[in-house]
Amino acid sequence: MSSSPSLRLLLSDCVLPANEARILLAHVLEKHYQLPRSALLSRDDMVLNEAASTDWEALVSRRTNGDPIAYLLGKKGFHNIELLVAPGVLIPRPETELLVDIALGEIAKLNQPTLILDLGTGSGAIALAIASAAPLATVIATDQSPEALGIARQNAQLLDLHNQVEFAQGSWYEALDNRSLFDVIVSNPPYIANLDPHLTQGDLRFEPLSALTDYASGLSCLEAIIAGVDQCLKPGGLIAVEHGFDQSEAVVQLMQVAHLIDIQVHLDLAGHSRVVSGRKSL
Ligand SMILES: C[S@@+](CC[C@H](N)C(=O)[O-])C[C@H]1O[C@@H](n2cnc3c(N)ncnc32)[C@H](O)[C@@H]1O
Repeated sequence: MSSSPSLRLLLSDCVLPANEARILLAHVLEKHYQLPRSALLSRDDMVLNEAASTDWEALVSRRTNGDPIAYLLGKKGFHNIELLVAPGVLIPRPETELLVDIALGEIAKLNQPTLILDLGTGSGAIALAIASAAPLATVIATDQSPEALGIARQNAQLLDLHNQVEFAQGSWYEALDNRSLFDVIVSNPPYIANLDPHLTQGDLRFEPLSALTDYASGLSCLEAIIAGVDQCLKPGGLIAVEHGFDQSEAVVQLMQVAHLIDIQVHLDLAGHSRVVSGRKSL
């Protein structure tokens, strides 16, 4: 007579790498039994009920097919917050936390209520992480994608930041309906060149193409964002943009052309140039 497998057996027999199998099984235990991750060890002889078992098998099958873990869990940690994520938005990346830290450094220096603009907010990651860490900041977050804005708005509600973060739809600065001048503008725009082979590999295959590529050289969104700062940044204000590993020189040049000063290249934790910042002169 065949008996249903215990958690221990589900893990040892799983085709996925051990760390991924543990993450997904912990998710099933939390969802169906409200049990913490530690139950993987403390209750390792437990047997899943039918609904949980069906869920586990579907998750393993989707992960085997390449679905990103964050989409399977429906959430992703970023900076000091947790965000809902779904296939309509980019999965926030750890390296993007650098943009948040640069903005927070500027907000701390200003030490007064500040107005921040996050262009291409996706899940709301940058805007909401800034708002969560800086209660004196008001953030306007824009995106062209209504689907992304829907998820970003849900995240703002769940994090109780909806009074501090306002969302607007449209292409870059066109989303703004008034003539506010911002203390800080941040953006992680699509910067992968059209036909870059990375677009057909790994997690990227499952993320919205319009969040990843500008369908051109990779620089056209960065160019539009940097060219537009003059109209929207306060004198002395700061802009910081994320870019691809080989784009920092080109982005510095775009900032020089836009007459920005105090241009700086910032490295991520892996030591790659990841962000360029510049300031509007006084
Ligand atoms: C690389 S994703 C970044 C998402 C989020 N800020 C993050 O860091 O996780 C780029 C975002 O820019 C948005 N986007 C693309 N083209 C745009 C445009 N012309 N105007 C405004 N947003 C745009 C995409 O929908 C996507 O959400």
